[in-house]
Amino acid sequence: MKLKKYTILVADDEEDVRILLKEVLEEENYTVITATNGQKAVDAVNNNHPDCVLLDVRMPVMDGMEAFLKIREIAPELPVIFLTAYGSSDLAIKAMKKGAYDYLTKPFDIDELKIKVKKAIELKELSANSDNRPHSRYRQDEIIGESSKMQEVYKSIGLVADSDATVLIRGESGTGKELVAKAIYLHSNRKNKPFIVVNCAAIPENLLESELFGHEKGAFTDAVARHIGKFEQAGNGTIFLDEIGDMSLYLQAKLLRVLQEKTFERVGGKETIVSHARILAATNRNLEELLKEGKFREDLYYRLNVVTISIPPLRERKEDIPLLVNHFVAKYSKKYNKVVQGVSDKVMRVFMDYDWPGNVRELENAIARGVIITSGPLIMKEHLPPKLIERVKETGLVNKTEGNTPMDDEIVPLPEAIAKIEKEMIIKAIKKANGNKTKAAKMLGISRKSLFNKLRTYHIPLNNGS
Ligand SMILES: Nc1ncnc2c1ncn2[C@@H]1O[C@H](COP(=O)(O)OP(=O)(O)OP(=O)(O)O)[C@@H](O)[C@H]1O
Ligand SMILES: [Mg+2]
Repeated sequence: MKLKKYTILVADDEEDVRILLKEVLEEENYTVITATNGQKAVDAVNNNHPDCVLLDVRMPVMDGMEAFLKIREIAPELPVIFLTAYGSSDLAIKAMKKGAYDYLTKPFDIDELKIKVKKAIELKELSANSDNRPHSRYRQDEIIGESSKMQEVYKSIGLVADSDATVLIRGESGTGKELVAKAIYLHSNRKNKPFIVVNCAAIPENLLESELFGHEKGAFTDAVARHIGKFEQAGNGTIFLDEIGDMSLYLQAKLLRVLQEKTFERVGGKETIVSHARILAATNRNLEELLKEGKFREDLYYRLNVVTISIPPLRERKEDIPLLVNHFVAKYSKKYNKVVQGVSDKVMRVFMDYDWPGNVRELENAIARGVIITSGPLIMKEHLPPKLIERVKETGLVNKTEGNTPMDDEIVPLPEAIAKIEKEMIIKAIKKANGNKTKAAKMLGISRKSLFNKLRTYHIPLNNGS
């Protein structure tokens, strides 16, 4: 059996680095090609189709970051590993947020280098054989956003994740507080222990107490058996107290004791229980205001406020909107089995102009709705929620004389039109071949494997036509 030989592109302006990496990687049986600057790296990706790229950040003519963005356009699934000088973690974080696969700091740890390259190629092969749609690299619960304000948030998450510190997450409704809580948990050394979420606003006060701290049998009329509360369920994992601003003063006192002494009693119980859970809390309320009104305990406030992460509202980081739109379009077209590719330019203009009182959640809902309603490859202005359509009319952002037929809204980009035709041809061929995929592939003049890839891309059910 002949094993596939993979090609690695090494782009670095220093000859020594190129020679070293070439030697090391050839030993591992890779084919190695090299480039001396960013422009040449982009050309090499175009001409040689490497399976992995090692890209220096600082290079003449075109630096690594610029080259990376170009490479991403040419080959979105191609793993790129950045080479950075030690200490330039800012650049590394930036590259990672832009979707780089990984980074290595100079001087290199050769073993680490080999492992990272091997893993990157494995992952690429895996994703080539599975759902291969644009932006599928985003995981379900990944925080999307590259604005400098979000970079600050990532930095804070990184700083606090591994400590046991209580973290207060603040931000308007829909800004992603729960997502940030989850990210802290996932990056902490408690990530293999439970993550328990309690929404303090959704549960009536008397129930919330036993929900959090549990109760003994007979503690109240309905307490027919002992109940173990969330603090106990969390063990030495993480408990996320959402909407903590809505907690009653009585429960605030009980919570304060957990924070200070790590102890509590079940409702109706005498036994003192020790909690080892890490506490994360979130609120969209103005705690300072509540403090003044006597609705929030000052001591609890100071206790919680030691480490605070504030998530900026979406209207203060509008440059993240296009990324979020892509992310949600991919998410919901997958979920609802559609081949929607994006939003029309006009819709994007409306999005950029709107002030998003409901923040990311509102945007997400608008996209989910649009993906469901649209029958074409794009979400058009008529697929927007009424509130946003109103907005379009008010601002005259989209002028009203442009005609009413749906196609007038936009010319469908060529790739999408081609995709549509391709999909129809495939369905036709499979029908004609009575569901026989080998025959259908032959009729279409493509390989069986590539037919299967396309079936997946276009979400054509495998039993189609049979
Ligand atoms: N930066 C982001 N990237 C991707 N998805 C996001 C982002 N921010 C928020 N979301 C999504 O928006 C929705 C709302 O987020 P989340 O529930 O974390 O907000 P919240 O701040 O807790 O809101 P609330 O105060 O209303 O509870 C979720 O579906 C979440 O996945
Ligand atoms: Mg929330």
